[in-house]
Amino acid sequence: MQDDSARRAAELREQLHEHIYRYHVLSRPVISDAEYDRLYNELRELEAAQPELITPDSPTQRAGSDLSEEFAKVRHPAPILSLSNAYSVEDLQAWEERNLKLLPAGTQLTYTLEPKLDGLTIVLTYENGVLIQAATRGNGEIGDDVTPNVRTIRAIPLRIPVDHTKRAAPERVTVRGEVMFLKHDFERMNARQLEQGLPSFINARNAASGALKQKDSRITATRPLTAFVYGIADMRGLALDKQWDMLEFLRDMGFQVAPDAAIYPTLSDIIQQIPTWESRRNQLDYEIDGIVIKVNDLRIVQELGVVGKDPRGAVAYKFAAQEATTRLLSVGFNVGRTGRVVPNANLEPVFIGGVTVSSATLHNFDFVRNLDIRVGDTVIVKRSGDVIPYVVGPIVDARKGDEQPILPPERCPFCDTPIMQDEGAVDYYCPNVYCPERVYRQAEFFVSRGAMDIDGVGGQTIKLLIENGIIKDEADLFSVTREQLLELEGFAEKKADNFLAGIEAAKQRPLAQLLTSLGIDGVGSTIATALANRLGSIDAIEAATVEEIDAIEGIGDVLAQNIHDWFADPYHRGVLEKLRAAGVKMVGEARVLAGEQLAGMTFVLTGTLPTLSRDEAAALIEAHGGKVTGSVSKKTSYVLMGDAPGSKADKARQLGVPIIGEDELRQMVGE
Ligand code: IVH
Repeated sequence: MQDDSARRAAELREQLHEHIYRYHVLSRPVISDAEYDRLYNELRELEAAQPELITPDSPTQRAGSDLSEEFAKVRHPAPILSLSNAYSVEDLQAWEERNLKLLPAGTQLTYTLEPKLDGLTIVLTYENGVLIQAATRGNGEIGDDVTPNVRTIRAIPLRIPVDHTKRAAPERVTVRGEVMFLKHDFERMNARQLEQGLPSFINARNAASGALKQKDSRITATRPLTAFVYGIADMRGLALDKQWDMLEFLRDMGFQVAPDAAIYPTLSDIIQQIPTWESRRNQLDYEIDGIVIKVNDLRIVQELGVVGKDPRGAVAYKFAAQEATTRLLSVGFNVGRTGRVVPNANLEPVFIGGVTVSSATLHNFDFVRNLDIRVGDTVIVKRSGDVIPYVVGPIVDARKGDEQPILPPERCPFCDTPIMQDEGAVDYYCPNVYCPERVYRQAEFFVSRGAMDIDGVGGQTIKLLIENGIIKDEADLFSVTREQLLELEGFAEKKADNFLAGIEAAKQRPLAQLLTSLGIDGVGSTIATALANRLGSIDAIEAATVEEIDAIEGIGDVLAQNIHDWFADPYHRGVLEKLRAAGVKMVGEARVLAGEQLAGMTFVLTGTLPTLSRDEAAALIEAHGGKVTGSVSKKTSYVLMGDAPGSKADKARQLGVPIIGEDELRQMVGE
């Protein structure tokens, strides 16, 4: 009986280890969550009945216990080194040159490139395959023992190798890695905090640190932490002579290894990768603050040695910081083309990633309320890539007590109309369709690229036209006269001619483009094309019932109602009437199919094609009976891929959707 239970417990541990690994590291579970729970509960019951069956590597020991005391200090088996930083290509080249001088003439250096994960260092020691200690970096020699907390992190194996068919674990090994939150887990955790009326976490790294340093590991267990490893600080009974082999070894042991690591023959190859990594940064599901470049040959790394705490054989290339703290001086309000009021923070100017930022969006009033952001607060501001800077949240500990709450304005700052809020809605809005700011934003959108694309008419000109009472909506742009233009400040013959030529050309835009430009909520170019193809004219869309609109592929109930309401609105009807009177084309091209070769097929476009523009490729597909949609799914027949494709190509590969090029498309339609 005793033996049977022991055997069963061992079996359950074995199975659970494998399923945890499959779920948290491979992301390829083979059993349902319920089945997992069943195995887990069976083990827990066995252990409850016979506590002597509990082993330190039992998956039940991840649940957290209330036994953790103050953190004990532990000495790392080997110094936990740091990295020197590089901020430019020149720094990297100088780093390599310094190294080459220390090495025999003619040495060729090969490098690995890894993301520099923005989390907290964790030092994991395994003896005979069992996790015996997990510690923070501390001062590099002594760290905090956070073993009970780390046991709750499912991406960290309690026992290695997780898969026994892989090679055996060495007698003793100390692995280092980074504990962090995946971005989506962090967001979900924050959403949960808000739901429970708890404050949200402002910064993923700090939140990870807080979670790891909990006194009660049951709290750590509720935080969706993960961990990536990237190196071995110390090992006994194992010889590895390349960094690349080390990563492979760690993967074999069942660790989640620094994702997207790669190996390159020379430093220039690495340097070429920098822009790609910088632009990928915001698309990754994990936070990085740079890349780490490591000499692949570990004997050379050894030979190069250490300066202070930094090994010469590796360097961190740091990206420009995306976050900074500054003071929120006051709040202004923007009004968008739909009337939506957006609070905007005026900031004490702060330098972020090469740009001085003095203003940042506060998104909406719910956001302000949830995070309790106040005027006078010290706030964290983020500027990543092309996204407009935004306030991440306040540093509550920095408050002095005289900070003021941020309230929605009572009247529109542009037209003085009382601000409204629909019941249950998040947003406040200016209801005045003639509000000069709304008209300005709508007209600016109307002429922009991707909308009517009108050359010669920019935001400044629109502003002047509104201020001088010449236009009251975007349709009035079509009746502006040469005389009116010449009276405007800064307008000479040439500029007026450009304006008029741009306006004239815009009258012949395809129906779908006109529809996109109207600024109907939810109607981008894909929906606009569907509407134009199915209904064929503005008149027909105006006359269509909600059901008719709803029947169009890609349009759901809510959007159909929204489109219908838009066209029923007297103000919008007035705009359309003026456009019609000005001679703007309001009917689609009669569609004549050139062939049926692509009937029933759905295509998704990504990247730049050799000769066809996106619109031309879509037209070619549609002219032969095919359809073009925006996102890849199992129903997609082909992904048409050009140069520099986006994530759609990856998605296609994942789903097994065939990828073709322009040549193949031409062959399919018999060109
Ligand atoms: S290697 C001796 N690799 O960055 C090797 N570190 O700024 C030292 N880090 O303390 C570390 N991602 O906490 C290495 N792929 C990576 C890393 C990485 C993040 C952290 C690590 C280190 C710090 C240095």
